[in-house]
Amino acid sequence: MKRVAVIGSQWGDEGKGKVVDFLADDKDIVARYSGGPNAGHTIVINDKQFILHLIPSGIFREGTVCVMGNGMAVDPESLLAEIEGLKKEGVYVGDNLLISESAHVIMPYNKLLDSLNEKIKGQKQIGTTRKGIGPTYADKASRVGLRMGDLLREDVLREKLEFILKIKNLLIREFFGEEGFDFDELFEKALLWGERLKPYITNTTSYMKKAVKEGKSVLYEGAQGTMLDIDHGTYPYVTSSNPTIGGIMTGLGVPPSAVDDVVAVVKAYTTRVGGGAFPTEDRGEFGEMLREKGGEYGATTGRPRRCGWLDLVVLKYASWLNGFSKIAITKLDVLDGFEKIKVCVAYEIDGERTDEFPLHYTQLLKAKPVYVELPGWKKPVKGIRKREELPKEALEYVNYIAENMEAEILLVSTGANRDHTVMFC
Ligand code: GDP
Ligand code: IMO
Ligand code: MG
Repeated sequence: MKRVAVIGSQWGDEGKGKVVDFLADDKDIVARYSGGPNAGHTIVINDKQFILHLIPSGIFREGTVCVMGNGMAVDPESLLAEIEGLKKEGVYVGDNLLISESAHVIMPYNKLLDSLNEKIKGQKQIGTTRKGIGPTYADKASRVGLRMGDLLREDVLREKLEFILKIKNLLIREFFGEEGFDFDELFEKALLWGERLKPYITNTTSYMKKAVKEGKSVLYEGAQGTMLDIDHGTYPYVTSSNPTIGGIMTGLGVPPSAVDDVVAVVKAYTTRVGGGAFPTEDRGEFGEMLREKGGEYGATTGRPRRCGWLDLVVLKYASWLNGFSKIAITKLDVLDGFEKIKVCVAYEIDGERTDEFPLHYTQLLKAKPVYVELPGWKKPVKGIRKREELPKEALEYVNYIAENMEAEILLVSTGANRDHTVMFC
């Protein structure tokens, strides 16, 4: 487990923050490779809760360097606020934070356009976090995006911003009929961000190369989840980056050989926030119960998360895509007290049974889950730290997931606190 990737296997919010913070204990580096402040990673240390959006979840570990890779989309305003917030809590943020000069900048016009794009979609809106993610990655692909390194170069910044702002203002004013942005104001703001973030902005590709060559231990922290991947997720109801394994290589500039183990973070049931198909969603009492018991409200937007039973069709698909070698099962305690636990093992689409995840959206919408029932457990698992204390039925449940995912159980999480964790191997 020298260089380990920790990746969300469902629709995000699997508990990656908790797992990353726990495993970061002995890591030299924790590196994020994709996404931006759409992420909300919760860490609870001695009952104190922290929610990170951009800063990697290794920041609470002394001696661990946190890297924000080139694959990320960074909102300087929200990053500065996050740094200040942590400092106020006495968390050290200084030379332990490195930001790639190639990471893209989420500009205010991108945040506005994210909201405006959603508005015109009406009923078909994606339900984005409105953090400017889509428009920023669109600018990246269109090769007109601003990168963190541009904030440190006045002439480059001026030229690039002058060009892009003309296009953005045209769109905002003429198409959407909204107020545009003033160049001078935005330019000054961006220069100031550069000045304040300068100590952290660097060539992280070269840093990672040196670190890997020196044999440093690395944890690659996933954001979002496999089913939100722009290529492999439930398109178009996805985010705009690659949370799956390939995102590590492109989003940090490391070769596949720099990853030894790939850990899936698997919530013991399924949730999703925002729009899009969700075959095992329970819109009734059971879903409501999971939401309340599991505190299933978005860490970034506060929106209620949609809830349902575990979906093995999704998990097997995610296992193949990412090559999971190990799994971390979270929130097992939320299933305490259920007499029976249902698990979706296949879909029925147009009367035919399949355990292959359907790629076309129209097929997915028709998918009816086929369930098996497993026995629940009477003794609560909440707060348990030792494997031998887990009830037999709870062990059967986690083993069943592991067998189907063809991966080994690394740990089981039995509560939000850092130490509510049972190590398996
Ligand atoms: P992430 O985006 O994958 O990091 O997950 P979030 O932080 O958005 O959501 C996970 C939520 O579950 C947070 O409120 C965590 O504090 C909480 N959590 C994590 N692990 C456990 C667990 O094992 N049991 C319970 N009850 N809560 C957990
Ligand atoms: P973490 O890292 C859950 C969802 C949004 C929306 C879709 C597109 O905390 O697991 P975006 O703002 O990215 O354009 O929104 O993706 N989404 C997440 N859902 N957890 C996340 O991150 C998410 N990041 C984006 O709700 O459906
Ligand atoms: Mg989250």
